[in-house]
This record gives sequence, C-alpha cells and structure tokens, in this order.
Amino acid sequence: MDAPATLLYFDDEHDAALRLADAAGFTPAQVERHRFPDGELKLRLPDALPERVALLRTLDHPNEKLVELLLAARTARDLGARHLTLVAPYLAYMRQDIAFTPGEAVSQRIVGRFLADLFDALVTVDPHLHRVATLQEAAPVQEAIVLSGAPLLADLIAERRPGALLVGPDAESAQWIAQAAARHGFDDGVCTKVRHGDHAVDIELPPVAVAGRAVVLLDDVASTGRTVARAAALLLAAGAASVDVAVTHALFAGDALQVLREAGVGEIWSTDCIAHPTNAVSVAPLIAQALRDMTCIKETPVSTRASGRPLLY
Ligand code: R5P
Repeated sequence: MDAPATLLYFDDEHDAALRLADAAGFTPAQVERHRFPDGELKLRLPDALPERVALLRTLDHPNEKLVELLLAARTARDLGARHLTLVAPYLAYMRQDIAFTPGEAVSQRIVGRFLADLFDALVTVDPHLHRVATLQEAAPVQEAIVLSGAPLLADLIAERRPGALLVGPDAESAQWIAQAAARHGFDDGVCTKVRHGDHAVDIELPPVAVAGRAVVLLDDVASTGRTVARAAALLLAAGAASVDVAVTHALFAGDALQVLREAGVGEIWSTDCIAHPTNAVSVAPLIAQALRDMTCIKETPVSTRASGRPLLY
C-alpha cells in the first residue's frame, strides 16, 4: 500500500496544519527551522517522504517565506516527493499584475512562475486576480485550485446578523457579495472606490437605503484597513444602525484594527487563512476536500517511471 500523504508545515502554522491534516487524512510533519546569527535559514524535513506531499504555508509577510518554499520544495523532491502541492490559503504578490508605470516588476507573474517551478499543484483561497482570468495564468502549475471563503463568511453573517445589508467596499468585491447574497438572500450593494495611495482611498456608497440597517462589509482582504474603515464611516454617517466587517484574509497591517475601531466598526470576522484573533470560521474542511479531490497527475518523463504511466493518486 502507498504510504499516506504527508502535510509539511512550519511551527508558526502548527494549529492550522493539524486542523488541515486531520480533515484531509494527511500525516502532519513539522519542518525544523534554524536561523543562523547572520539571518540565513537551515531547514530540516523528515528524512524520507512519501510520493505525495503537501506543504502548508500561508503567504502573509511573504518575503522570507518564499525562501523557505524554495529550500523546502527542492529538499522534499530529494527526499522522495513525486507530487508536491503548495497549500497557500493566502497567496501573496497577486496585486501587482501589470506594470502600472514603466519599469515596475510584475510581481504576480514572477512569483507565480517561481511557485510553478517548485510545485505541481497549488491550492489557495480568494486570490487577488483582477486582470487575469485564472489562477493558472498567474501561477502556471499543473493543477491550480481556487477556493472561496465567501460562502463560509456568508453563513456566519446569516447566523450573527440575520437580515443584514451586505455591502462590498469596491468593484472587485462584487463577486463575493453576489455569491453571499445569492446564498442567503441578503439585500446588497457595492461601493465604488478610488485608491490614491497605500493609506488613502475615496469611496462612494451604492444607491441603497442604509438608514437603520445592520450592515456587514464583506471583502477578500483587509490590509491597511482603510478601504473598509472609510466605507464603514460613510455607512454610519448615512444612518446605518451598525457596521460589522467580514474578510477572508486578515492581513490587518500596522494600525489597521485601530483605524477600523475608530471608524465605528463593531464586530470583525475573518477566516483562518491567516491566523488572527478575528478568525471566526475555518477553511480547513474546504481545503481538505480540495486535496482529496485533486487528480495529482504528474507527467514525469517515461524513462523515469517504471509503469510508463502518469503518476496518479
Ligand atoms: C482591493 O481590491 C481589495 O479587495 C481590498 O479592498 C484592498 O486590498 C484592501 O486594502 P486596504 O485594507 O489596504 O485598504
């Protein structure tokens, strides 16, 4: 019988890894990490790996994690992994998908190709894809699976704020608003947004009546928090009874949470794609299902395979 698949993880994602391994039926194995005094990293993986391996690494604060992925993925191959999946519930560097001014690095394409060189498959949640249609265009792996946290958050909102008015803070959020509204019949609306800089956004409310309503702002990610904070302030000024916030990815950089509170936001709910005190729903069952459904086809050269067939799990 084939050895059970292994889920590699790093110590700072221990809890999320155990939830996922348990739900997916993978054997969890922690990657040991040593930091040398000069900042370099040394990793140690289990000394033998099964053919199927997944690596959990959510990519908030991504810069050092990309080096970890490089070292871990290459080592996993050396130790026996034939099919390697990256599970990155939050996928970084997806926003810079074109050169907005000449000379800018198109980070999405560069990081996407970097990951595709290391991994056969990629599983992520609500990646920030605006000007490309599919995740595979951004990260050309053999199997790219996009999941969404919106239905989970919609279920939570329906439970905590039945009859809420669901508002998306910008045009990109319309997809999640539509999904959530269809699922629970929420009234909904989508704002328009113009971003002037990292911390400066202008927002215009949608033409829906907000007076006296319990409003929930739903978005894929809050980073500086300025987008949802500005929308919340406008909604409250327009007479909303309350404004809560639900996001898939709780980046909440710098003073984001304080800015949200100062804007009058009540509850803040997020998925556990990024571990954060606001986590209210878990994506582990969703990702586990995706791992179970994965076809795991790896077209290795015929000369390296005993059977001459693609590797299938
Ligand atoms: C933009 O399209 C995204 O969906 C978010 O609205 C945006 O990234 C949030 O950024 P911030 O929290 O920094 O305003």
